[in-house]
Amino acid sequence: MKQGEWIAILDYGSQVTQLIARRIREHKVYCEIIRFDTSAETLKEQAPKGIILSGGPCSVPDEDSPKCDPEIFNLGIPILGICYGMQLAAQFLGGSVLGSEKREYGKAMMQIIKPSPLFQGLEPDLQVWMSHGDKVTAMPEGFEAVAQSDNCPFAAMQNPVSKIYGVQFHPEVVHTPQGKEMLWNFAFKICGCSGTWEMSKFIEENIKAIREKVGEDHVLLGLSGGVDSSVVAALLHKAIGDKLHCVYVDNGLMRYRETEDVEELFGNAFGIDLTVARSGELFLRKLAGVSDPEEKRKIIGSTFIDVFAEKARGFSGKVKFLAQGTLYPDVIESVSPIGGPSATIKSHHNVGGLPADLQFDLIEPLRELFKDEVREVGRELGLPSYVVDRQPFPGPGLAVRIISDITPERIEVLQQADLRVREEIMKMPNHLDVWQYFAVLLPIQTVGVMGDDRTYENVVAVRAVESRDGMTADWYKLPYDVMDSISNRIINEVRGVNRVCYDISSKPPSTIEWE
Ligand code: XMP
Repeated sequence: MKQGEWIAILDYGSQVTQLIARRIREHKVYCEIIRFDTSAETLKEQAPKGIILSGGPCSVPDEDSPKCDPEIFNLGIPILGICYGMQLAAQFLGGSVLGSEKREYGKAMMQIIKPSPLFQGLEPDLQVWMSHGDKVTAMPEGFEAVAQSDNCPFAAMQNPVSKIYGVQFHPEVVHTPQGKEMLWNFAFKICGCSGTWEMSKFIEENIKAIREKVGEDHVLLGLSGGVDSSVVAALLHKAIGDKLHCVYVDNGLMRYRETEDVEELFGNAFGIDLTVARSGELFLRKLAGVSDPEEKRKIIGSTFIDVFAEKARGFSGKVKFLAQGTLYPDVIESVSPIGGPSATIKSHHNVGGLPADLQFDLIEPLRELFKDEVREVGRELGLPSYVVDRQPFPGPGLAVRIISDITPERIEVLQQADLRVREEIMKMPNHLDVWQYFAVLLPIQTVGVMGDDRTYENVVAVRAVESRDGMTADWYKLPYDVMDSISNRIINEVRGVNRVCYDISSKPPSTIEWE
């Protein structure tokens, strides 16, 4: 939604470009990450209040490295170059940049040596995060150095007349503790933003856009009960009411009462037209005797498509659009130069692989949002915390948490054990700090004793991890009393389990799921 007040972030491929966008949006200023070579003409038309040139892994003096349109420096729009972005500005405006064998990486102390609106209100000595090889060795005419570090005489530069600024460090990462204030200064003091971007406004504008796009047509959505599809459902329902049709596939591998919760919330409370495909038996029939994890995943994936497609066919002729919960990180991955100059924006297919006879236009109302913004939209739309703060749950469901072939009895044992893990951890006031927590049913029996009797029953493993994005994870140090009540409750209340273990492996080398 590049209208009104916004900031453009040109992406030169830094690992942390997304963080620049996060920080700017936290200040309630809308921003978008766009291609590194977006022309000055386009930018002029789209009229951002400011332009940020991101960092990047390439070397500005290299002929092949990604460059900006030099005309952007003549637009009169304030510019902030970060690291590689600063070097680009220096090179194009007549300064010089030298490649250096020595990489400066990590925390550095920086002194502010001249007043700058970028550093207004900050202490003169600041910790910053450096990550660069090349550096600016001569500033362009009209520029002055406003900060220096031991390694970097031009740690920050400015030309207040042309409103062009550059910093050699990364203000967007947490290791630059005052970075947030610097980006605030850039957006508000230098670009003149007023910080009016709010979720309620986003929702309002989005609803208008959805209504315009959909017109009198109908929309189909595969609702999984996860955060993204739930928020899409609530948003679309608000926009187009009963022209939204949701299909939920119950594969028989959901957590305890999950399907009922979805029906209760979306079918009853929201009054959405919801079709529940109760296909547990079909999935279990196809999975009978299968214990190989990859095979399980393939069977579940293809059966899901079959079931969804059959339900979707019931709507064909009536439905023009298929809605998807694509998020911003899925979209921006491909604007960076590192994906190759031809990288086009990819569509994330949550319901990918539909047969050719089912052709829909896509509608992706969350494609401009980060995950925590999606949660905020969900809250605004009245979704309960158990939906918007829900932990990730794998598509193949409990199948990848039963470490052998799948039977209805095993599913039931695992559902009951998993319920108790969740109930006990959710009693912790800080349970939202735990990224994921669940039970895994192991394919072994061990000996136990109950009263005077010997038992020979299943083992359940408990997995709880902390993580930022699921890519890496550390096992969560659950308090002993929580572990104690989980173990007691599972062994006493769940028939068929006589031993509970705690998984103390991190990712890598383990994964979060066991299969
Ligand atoms: P792993 O086990 O690879 O999981 O460490 C990383 C994150 O991804 C989730 N996960 C899945 N999500 N479909 C999904 O939608 C899947 O097949 C799938 N497998 C794993 C997992 O729960 C964790 O959050």
